[in-house]
Amino acid sequence: MTESAIRVEGVFKRYGQNTVLNNIDLDIKEGEFVCLLGPSGCGKSTLLRLIAGLDMPTEGKIYLKGKDATFLPASKRNFGIMFQSYALFPNLTAFENVAYGLRNQKLANKTVNEVVNRYFAMVGLTEARDRYPAQLSGGEQQRVALARALATNPSFLLLDEPLSALDAKVRIKLRREICRIQRELELTTIMVTHDQDEALTMADRIIVMNRAMIMQSGTPQQIYERPESRFVADFIGAINFYPDFDKGGRLSAVRPENIRMGTEPEEGSLCAELETMEFRGSFCRLTARLTGMQRNDELMVDLPYSEVKQLDLKVGGVVYLNLPSQQVLHFAEQGA
Ligand SMILES: Nc1ncnc2c1ncn2[C@@H]1O[C@H](COP(=O)(O)OP(=O)(O)OP(=O)(O)O)[C@@H](O)[C@H]1O
Ligand SMILES: [Mg+2]
Repeated sequence: MTESAIRVEGVFKRYGQNTVLNNIDLDIKEGEFVCLLGPSGCGKSTLLRLIAGLDMPTEGKIYLKGKDATFLPASKRNFGIMFQSYALFPNLTAFENVAYGLRNQKLANKTVNEVVNRYFAMVGLTEARDRYPAQLSGGEQQRVALARALATNPSFLLLDEPLSALDAKVRIKLRREICRIQRELELTTIMVTHDQDEALTMADRIIVMNRAMIMQSGTPQQIYERPESRFVADFIGAINFYPDFDKGGRLSAVRPENIRMGTEPEEGSLCAELETMEFRGSFCRLTARLTGMQRNDELMVDLPYSEVKQLDLKVGGVVYLNLPSQQVLHFAEQGA
């Protein structure tokens, strides 16, 4: 087995009575891009801080490239860090912000210039080099922070919600830039986010956390298509839950895009009344209430807008739903 770039083993973090990390195990391969995803307060930033060496675990070990680094100071870990709260130095130009770490390494001026210019070109900000942070937009400041995190040629990149302050367009652009740079430099990267789209589009692997624990780890497809718990299914993407009476009332679920809808009954289809229709741009989200059964479930269904027009669907109309059995998920829990 090849050794992990980052390995977290049996890590606990407690603040007084409060356990904020509960027995975390994690293995990250060289060059892998991992997203930590989970609701506010689940322990994402704490885990990142322990990996960065900005804080110590209460119990457990952290290994970097096979070496025990649990008590290694942050300055010796060779991380590029970009935390949202890691503001730029306001009294230094963008250039000097990025040069800061290199000057600390006592590199020659000429080398510093070359390296800094290279990273400005990489993040597409060459023209803004000599401005102060207050003269840069939020997105530009975050690109400077990214250049600063990369400039010291780190072995690992740790990003804590690096894009959360940005508007949707800039965020998508910077997502692509971060992905491109990460692949180009083959940097082992951990990014914290509570934005599921960000995790799904960027990560090689997603680690879903909840209440101090890891709930599931897998590729974006695995997490989306084969969630192992109600929590993961519910946290990522839209989903319909219902108790499956053929399976003793066990909790089942199906995503709205996997339900087929028609205006004529088919074998195995369920009769329903169309209750709401929401236009969402490229698709419509419909809700349909099952009729003529002992249960009274309401299901979300996503259809391409073209199909809604073609079927001439109207609120209050009768529709027939088909839940393809391969797309239906079953959980161990009871569906109440
Ligand atoms: N220094 C501290 N002292 C006491 N409790 C702390 C400390 N730092 C964090 N916590 C608690 O630990 C828990 C996890 O915090 P953390 O910052 O890791 O959450 P998070 O998953 O990053 O959340 P968010 O998405 O809101 O940033 C929270 O309940 C927080 O209040
Ligand atoms: Mg956080």
